[in-house]
Amino acid sequence: MKHSGDPWTASGMKVSNKQHEAPVRDFLEAIIDQPKAHAKFLNMLSMLEHMGSRKIMVSQMDRGDVLSQDTLQHLAEEARHAYFFKRHAERINGAPMDGWLDANTMTRVPALMYFGRMDAGISKRVGNDDAYGWVSLIIELRACWLYGIYNDVVERADFHLPLKGLLAEEDHHLAEMFEMCGENHDLLKELSAYETSLFEKLWSALEGEFSSTVDNREAA
Ligand SMILES: [Fe+2]
Ligand SMILES: [Fe+2]
Repeated sequence: MKHSGDPWTASGMKVSNKQHEAPVRDFLEAIIDQPKAHAKFLNMLSMLEHMGSRKIMVSQMDRGDVLSQDTLQHLAEEARHAYFFKRHAERINGAPMDGWLDANTMTRVPALMYFGRMDAGISKRVGNDDAYGWVSLIIELRACWLYGIYNDVVERADFHLPLKGLLAEEDHHLAEMFEMCGENHDLLKELSAYETSLFEKLWSALEGEFSSTVDNREAA
């Protein structure tokens, strides 16, 4: 069944996040000039992508009878995004960044909390059977929003970070998840607002950690 509308209009996400666009853009413009901090930020994105991929694997393996080609593709692409961000983190860092530790991952604990609370809160609201679609839909909105700004920032700065392919895959996931469970626009708005409140906490932690990093202080 084709749903009416598009995920952006239905969720109200872009409108309700309008005030975050400029500060997020400022943060990204500043961090790409700070290799050590940028590498840690990329490693955090790698961790979140890995958690997303792992979540799909664990939740959908429990329902092995419905593990479809689409779901496997989604899982594989999120795993590749984790690899993509790790690879570029290490390239920029000029040294390996194994695992996700406090020392090599920006706001590691707030990022874990962001993901864990979102997953738990949405799963509780929609029930475990529908959690995959809804959690994914809400994550894809944020991923497309954030990576869209990020891509624009790196392109304008002529900074080598090829986000285009990844962004196209997130766009495709978003359309797929909207198709799966987007018909309830009221619930979509409610869950998107919930995610936005968690994102605000994560982002202020990121800004706090970045402003206290050594290479940022040296540059100031
Ligand atoms: Fe992803
Ligand atoms: Fe995705």
